[in-house]
Amino acid sequence: MANEAQSPAVTTQRHGHVLVVTVNNPPVNALSAAVRQGLFAAIEQADADADTQAVLIVSEGKTFIAGADIREFGKPPVPPALPDVCNRIEACTKPVVAALQGAALGGGLEVALGAHYRLALPAAKVGLPEVDLGLMPGAGGTQRAPRLMGVKAAAEFMLSGKPMGAQAALQAGLLDRIVDGTPEGASEGSRPAQEAGLAYANELLASGAPVRRVRDIAIPNAEAALAELSALADDTAKKSRGLFSPLKIIEAVRAAVELPFDQGMALERRLFLACIDSPQRAGLIHAFFAEREVTKVPEARAAAPRAVASLAIIGGGTMGAGIAVSALDAGFPVVMVERDAEAIARGVANVTKVYDGLLAKGRMTEAQKAAVLARFTPSTNYADVAAVDLVIEAVFEDLEVKKAVFQQLDKVCKPGAVLATNTSYLDIDAIAASTSRPQDVIGLHFFSPANIMKLLEIVVPAQVSADVVVTAFELAKRMKKVPVRAGVCDGFIGNRILATYKQAADYLMEDGASPYEIDAAVRGFGYPMGPCQVTDLAGGDIGWATRKRRAATRDPKARYVEIADRICERGWFGQKTGRGFYLYPQGARTGQPDPEVLAIVDAERAKKGITPRSFTPEEIMRRYMAAIVNEGAKVLADGIALRPLDIDVTFLYGYGFPRFRGGPMKYADTVGLDQILADLRSFAQEDPLFWQPAPLLEQLVAEGRNFDSLNQAQR
Ligand code: 3HC
Ligand code: NAI
Repeated sequence: MANEAQSPAVTTQRHGHVLVVTVNNPPVNALSAAVRQGLFAAIEQADADADTQAVLIVSEGKTFIAGADIREFGKPPVPPALPDVCNRIEACTKPVVAALQGAALGGGLEVALGAHYRLALPAAKVGLPEVDLGLMPGAGGTQRAPRLMGVKAAAEFMLSGKPMGAQAALQAGLLDRIVDGTPEGASEGSRPAQEAGLAYANELLASGAPVRRVRDIAIPNAEAALAELSALADDTAKKSRGLFSPLKIIEAVRAAVELPFDQGMALERRLFLACIDSPQRAGLIHAFFAEREVTKVPEARAAAPRAVASLAIIGGGTMGAGIAVSALDAGFPVVMVERDAEAIARGVANVTKVYDGLLAKGRMTEAQKAAVLARFTPSTNYADVAAVDLVIEAVFEDLEVKKAVFQQLDKVCKPGAVLATNTSYLDIDAIAASTSRPQDVIGLHFFSPANIMKLLEIVVPAQVSADVVVTAFELAKRMKKVPVRAGVCDGFIGNRILATYKQAADYLMEDGASPYEIDAAVRGFGYPMGPCQVTDLAGGDIGWATRKRRAATRDPKARYVEIADRICERGWFGQKTGRGFYLYPQGARTGQPDPEVLAIVDAERAKKGITPRSFTPEEIMRRYMAAIVNEGAKVLADGIALRPLDIDVTFLYGYGFPRFRGGPMKYADTVGLDQILADLRSFAQEDPLFWQPAPLLEQLVAEGRNFDSLNQAQR
């Protein structure tokens, strides 16, 4: 048995006539330069070594190979390039087997497609998720997958980015066999993928199985395949809304049909490099890392989470019910407390409505619904929360009402129970102070609908203990939410910034842009909806009530636009009342422009003596984004957000910010902070109070730094 190590990331060891090539690059075996070099050298070694008759590629750890090393993108390339590695594997003169355990993603699957035979354990997953990073498969995936699984299926696989399980991959033709690698009596340290792979390789040798290269497979029915791709391209152009890489994927797959293999590979490479150069790739990869970075908060280093086995929700309205569903879906037993019999009946109805919807769509069975609801305990008695580990309050947005609820909880809850509030704006320090245990009180700000929206702002008041913060992050993980740590202020990270850019939109409207032009510009930027559409969806009355509540404390010098108030005074609260900024005839979900709203806007302008001017979509977005970024900088300086990336994740997961731009702070870096500051200074000539540049932004520009430098400083 020979044992030669080329590099720590890839080792080789001969077992009989099979050279076992093991990738070991924790945590996920990404294809960093050392792995690429190691794989290339291992195949050279196999070809040169007379005693080697077959090769087995396996890896250490849970993941087969997670793909290219994303951290290397944008840096100078180090040879060998991954397509060359895959081609070298395929060119090996001896049969090469890849044995997959865990995920084989992106370049990981492409390595396996370079091999001649593919085996997987039942739990393995394969995927080409490059599209989620603004990329396309760039190491032969676009040329080899269509040859194995069919042209249309392969293109759809790459466009979806979604991995498939081993069984589906076997059926699709990506795998040759699945082996249950956990035979009875398997020892702790056993390597099921290696054992199954060795058995397969020896079997192939015994049967004289040949080297079998995917590149040699001919694609049948080229004409039909091209027609399918054309249809897919039309559909993709409509659906992908300005994304760069999806159409490049189709172009590369088309080349697999039309061109000889090597020319197809060359085209794939060109298109892949164009994707690498696109700002969308930078934005999407920023988002990938940011959503992993958000959980790295100071408390996580300082404390361990408290055990949470049961939950209670106070309030069964819109949010209480959504949070209850989210908790039930995560497997918790849930107690829901409401004010009286009528209110709890409504709360129960709100929860069951969600499951009935799933039943109707065939996504749940009666038995599953019954099993979930068996964990749900409706109540009108606070004593029923005495034993639970964590309580989430979601009653009316009124400080006095909330304080009264927390005083009750303080009386009945067991010591050490975590007491959380879902308040959108209120002072959580004050809520905490109304109890005898402020160290246990925290904000858990879910977004509506709470069972669907991923964002969870974890709002950290002054006196809360670190283990409660860590418990909240752990809860987020179990509920499959994306948590962001926020500090206490009016609106925390998201709603505070939202208030500012809505103001910017109001000013634009009064100065000359119509609500429809503003929404169109915002959609054109990549948001699914514009701010007026969002208001109509959420209900204009909610913002109206907040504005009335704040009227007394509003800065009298600040500009105030009354257009939305005029609309609400007519009872036009949006979709639920059939009209708001838009008209929704017969319960339509998509609004139509309303000439009467335009007349209201005109009247308000006239009242203030404003001569409307026109704004291009670009001018609208400059103001909109300058407002977001400037308030974002203030949120950072106030310590409400730990890092710019926390703001980015908040907007990606809670406010529909286009992911391909990475988030508002990443966008600001892309545009250049000096440009944003110059815009702010020019807008400030009209309204110095609103457009006052954040000192942090000025400081960063003066020092020639960007927001990402603040992210890096905290890594
Ligand atoms: N490159 C570099 N680092 C990676 C990575 C990659 N491809 N994939 C994951 N990581 C890092 C993560 O950033 C994280 O780092 P951290 O601990 O410092 O925060 C660590 O590995 C663990 O990752 P996760 O927290 O995501 O671990 P999970 O176990 O939850 O998930 C996974 C594992 C399913 C592999 C998931 O990490 C994943 O989906 N990775 C990305 C897969 C992907 O997109 N591959 C395609 C890459 S592009 C490509 O291959 C181009 C090619 O076609 C040429
Ligand atoms: P809602 O009005 O739909 O529900 C509030 C519920 O609380 C009602 O069912 C009411 O009967 C109940 N309630 C009131 N006092 C109670 C008490 N003392 N004990 C038990 N139950 C009581 O309100 P919604 O929209 O669910 O909001 C709840 C909280 O969530 C508020 O703090 C709000 O700011 C916050 N929030 C709301 C979001 C939204 O989009 N609706 C988004 C994020 C947070």
